[in-house]
Amino acid sequence: MSSPALANPSISQTNKAMDKKKIHIKTYGCQMNFYDSSRMAELMKPLGYELSEKPDDADMVVLNTCHIREKASEKMYSDLGRIKRAKQKLGKNGKRMLVAVAGCVAQAEGEEITRRAPYVDIVVGPQTFQRLPDLVAKSLRDHAIKGGGEKIHELDFAVEEKFDKLAIQPPEGATQAFLTIQEGCDKFCTFCVVPYTRGGEYSRPVNDVLAEARTMAAGGVVEVTLLGQNVNAYHGMAGGGEWNLAKLCHALAEIPGITRIRYTTSHPRDMDDALIQAHADLPQLMPYLHLPVQSGSDRILAAMNRKHTAKHYLNIIEKLRKARPDIALSTDIIVGFPGETDEDFEATMQLVRKVGYAQSYSFKYSIRPGTPAASVEEQVPEEVKDARLQALQALLNQQLIDFNQSMVGQRMEILIEKPGKHAGQMVGRSPYLQSVHVDDCDLKPGQLAEVIVTGTTHFGLRAVLAETMPNPLSQEDTHLGHA
Ligand code: 5AD
Ligand code: SF4
Repeated sequence: MSSPALANPSISQTNKAMDKKKIHIKTYGCQMNFYDSSRMAELMKPLGYELSEKPDDADMVVLNTCHIREKASEKMYSDLGRIKRAKQKLGKNGKRMLVAVAGCVAQAEGEEITRRAPYVDIVVGPQTFQRLPDLVAKSLRDHAIKGGGEKIHELDFAVEEKFDKLAIQPPEGATQAFLTIQEGCDKFCTFCVVPYTRGGEYSRPVNDVLAEARTMAAGGVVEVTLLGQNVNAYHGMAGGGEWNLAKLCHALAEIPGITRIRYTTSHPRDMDDALIQAHADLPQLMPYLHLPVQSGSDRILAAMNRKHTAKHYLNIIEKLRKARPDIALSTDIIVGFPGETDEDFEATMQLVRKVGYAQSYSFKYSIRPGTPAASVEEQVPEEVKDARLQALQALLNQQLIDFNQSMVGQRMEILIEKPGKHAGQMVGRSPYLQSVHVDDCDLKPGQLAEVIVTGTTHFGLRAVLAETMPNPLSQEDTHLGHA
């Protein structure tokens, strides 16, 4: 794929573009952003840009931002301050650093960013970053001709164009890969910016998804994680009509080489019976599900516009556990949503006790300008939010420890991902998404290994290869023999 600007040999930038250059990409927020950043790196390669760890002497810096909570956007502005100093320093040596702000803050704040930070050259939204090479070429050309770069703002919602243009190469040597199948959201939870920054719900066509998965499998990918802000709302078109996520998972499970499938993030309202049944029928579908509940109080769930109750959620969990008894559950919870009382918070604690989560992400409610909940007058005081978050996290942490502890002695298959910190140590991934450290083994990334869990680490597990573990029966024999 070549952009019109780069294909034109009369543009002097063309030759310069092939020089080796450094690009530093900093990613904030969710897995979708990490996925988008890797695609940006791929897009910039043909222009000679190679990834660089540090921003200091980079030819280009991209901040791929997150707007979900206030802290995330503030972090971007404080990082921009440092980038500005690095850019000025390079400028003194006659080198120009191109600065781009991408992602959800770019979409939400647009021209406000270049007003507040005039050293930013390009502002590009999450649905238009496929145009980054053209935008860079334009900025460099304008600078070469006019001496001063015009600010570029590219903030359309061009999600179909985005998927059409993105290269579908699996990252080299990767055994695990993310595959975006869906973007955006139509749910409009009253606290959330996603429907405004990522736009309405869009599902990629089935054939595109399957083709990308096949390419990944051919490149050695064993585990595919399907991504989407509302992944289980997937309704991609295939020749004969629409496919839901359950049907897509069945088709993905048939691709040789794909032995593990995960998907995230799901909404309780879209957790249909076919998808629950797929957890019973498909051994490839890993027994781990991130299913955010946000609150355990029906009053707050209604104010959040979640369109489900606590009972509805618990009912789904019950069905899931019937389908796949060992399924591990994960959630997102917000404390201190406007109007949340002590009773509402206690209802959340009750729900958490009933479910018993293996993993969780919990947050204090953060006002997001433009969302309905932001204008509610009854905001919860900061110190009340703090106390509730502390109590909730103590409970959730204990559940995480208990869950990990319950694995000790179990035999399981893990996917080896990378070498560990110590010589001979490898780190793998359990079916329940824990990292598993295996010492003194001769395993390679991409291999599936049978292990027995021997203990827990801070966030994960320790294990030994099953075949190196003495068979309990023969151990007993030996013991008897000695007695
Ligand atoms: N304040 C706090 N947490 C939020 N989330 C989304 N918006 C907000 C907000 N305004 C949390 C939700 C969501 C996760 C990605 O971030 O729990 O599931
Ligand atoms: Fe945000 Fe709600 Fe959509 Fe999730 S479902 S992305 S929380 S609006």
